[in-house]
Amino acid sequence: MLGTHDGMTRAYALGRGSDQVAKLKGCKHAHFAWQAPPGCPESLPLYLLERGDARQLATQLSCRQDIAGDGAFSLGMLAEYQASLVARGPWFYRRLFWEAGAIGQVLYLEAEAAGVRSTGIGCFFDDPVHQVFGLKDLAFQSLYHFTVGGYVDDPRLTTLPPYEAASKVPLATPEVVLHSRPQDLKQ
Ligand SMILES: Cc1cc2nc3c(=O)[nH]c(=O)nc-3n(C[C@H](O)[C@H](O)[C@H](O)COP(=O)(O)O)c2cc1C
Repeated sequence: MLGTHDGMTRAYALGRGSDQVAKLKGCKHAHFAWQAPPGCPESLPLYLLERGDARQLATQLSCRQDIAGDGAFSLGMLAEYQASLVARGPWFYRRLFWEAGAIGQVLYLEAEAAGVRSTGIGCFFDDPVHQVFGLKDLAFQSLYHFTVGGYVDDPRLTTLPPYEAASKVPLATPEVVLHSRPQDLKQ
């Protein structure tokens, strides 16, 4: 996770449990600090790895997309990969992506609730991501990236209010809404 704070960019790791943190520590670069940030609750396994300006690096790792370097923070989701596939079988590959997507949906909702925005990033260079963090084998694999921050409107996109069609058909059943043509809904 690469975040900007007080004008400095920092690299962090957030584990989903103490087991995972221990495994990650064993796989990542030996020089990483693994320090709990000041004020971080003990129950949150968030660790500072390194200080420095990593904005350009974050952009480059996500296919040179500015959204990865310009936000408040961006992150790559690292899944326990080889061991989980060997233990559970090939079907678990799809499940790992499903889980990363579910975490992404939570980030979309939480960012919105916090008054900022976020974007899933499916385009990234996984080998360079692994090099940056010192991952040398298939124990962990980067599956999905995400960026969170203030938003910039893209005038190329059209935004409609949610459930616009439904709001124009009072008491309509879902079937009516699904099968309505836009011209039928004009008032
Ligand atoms: C899995 C996934 C990967 C995405 N990858 C990128 C990406 O690499 N770059 C980007 O600008 N947006 C990316 N997006 C965001 C989409 O382009 C789009 O902004 C988002 O899905 C909202 O669009 P919608 O309102 O039309 O659903 C991604 C979204 C998802 C769900």
